[in-house]
Amino acid sequence: MTVLVTGGCGYIGAHVVHALHQAGEKVVVVDDLSYGKPTRIEGSRLYGMDIAAPGAGERLAEILDAEGVDSVIHFAARKQVGESVEKPLWYYQQNINGMLNVLTGMTQSKNAKKLVFSSSAATYGVPPVDVVPEDVVPMLPINPYGQTKLFGEWMARACEQPFGIRFCALRYFNVAGCGPVELEDPAILNLIPMLFNRLKQGKAPAIFGDDYPTPDGTCVRDYIHVSDLADAHIAALKYLDRDERKYDAFNVGTGEGTSVRQIVDEVKKVTGLPFTEAVMARRAGDPPHLIGSPKRINEEMGWHAKYDVEDIVKSAWDAWQANPEHHIDVDTWKQAD
Ligand SMILES: NC(=O)c1ccc[n+]([C@@H]2O[C@H](COP(=O)([O-])OP(=O)(O)OC[C@H]3O[C@@H](n4cnc5c(N)ncnc54)[C@H](O)[C@@H]3O)[C@@H](O)[C@H]2O)c1
Repeated sequence: MTVLVTGGCGYIGAHVVHALHQAGEKVVVVDDLSYGKPTRIEGSRLYGMDIAAPGAGERLAEILDAEGVDSVIHFAARKQVGESVEKPLWYYQQNINGMLNVLTGMTQSKNAKKLVFSSSAATYGVPPVDVVPEDVVPMLPINPYGQTKLFGEWMARACEQPFGIRFCALRYFNVAGCGPVELEDPAILNLIPMLFNRLKQGKAPAIFGDDYPTPDGTCVRDYIHVSDLADAHIAALKYLDRDERKYDAFNVGTGEGTSVRQIVDEVKKVTGLPFTEAVMARRAGDPPHLIGSPKRINEEMGWHAKYDVEDIVKSAWDAWQANPEHHIDVDTWKQAD
């Protein structure tokens, strides 16, 4: 198998490239390096290009055929919910055109007919159930980012019948943790790096809202280890080899909820730092629960998460401490406010 990975220099893409290398597959990466790091994909050929630019579809078709690619995993996208609310047109331009060009390249190529797409729990918006199955209705994403992911699924699905594209979307829940430390995500966008970042500054980590209708009052999410997520992509590529496929959208979650307070407690345990967290007002747009039912991916692909929340926090901390810009001296640390 030869796999082209768009966005392979990013956090999740690099973990998947690593898993593909371990499985002995040939990997080619396309990335504009706007967020990615080329050092994460040693051993793979890198094509530096913006997949959302005019003409990128034709260029991708050339690369796909020149490299003998049969499968594509499409990660390259803009992914910040808040930024998508501020810059909706840019998100549509980047994520929709990116998908359009990937599909154009695949339809023009001779052999690249299997596509795994990075979708998101953001496609569900605020779902009417606590544990979300893939076929929940309505699917009403509440921000442009989630809309681009849902529309990306529709675009790929529309290409299945006329162009023979075999497609599946993986809808990720809360991705966290790290495999090899050099694949760390340096961005401070999600709960665990945000907690570590406050600690780095000597400040109290914040919990946004403890009056939600949940067991301890804080929001509950489904955390998935990035290495488990990487394995789900390998399982998805195998699934696309099957002629009989019942579904083309799969949650990648654990079905288990973990509250913000439980994560904070895990951070205390793993880091050993004696901090006191601050409880702040709720943030707009945070649903109380967001947990993905993994029943479909468990049954259809045989994929199950192997890592738990302790593994996630521990691996994230090891990677944080391995980065000289982030490292916290545990022996001298004290809370400043
Ligand atoms: N991280 C999460 O929690 C999460 C959750 C759900 C879905 N996703 C999706 O997973 C994918 C990967 O996320 P990530 O966390 O690894 O993000 P990331 O920002 O670390 O990686 C994205 C990569 O794509 C590249 N890229 C972005 N736009 C590009 C373009 N137009 N042309 C070429 N390369 C481009 C970036 O340089 C980067 O290397 C994204 O599609 C994201 O929407 C992520």
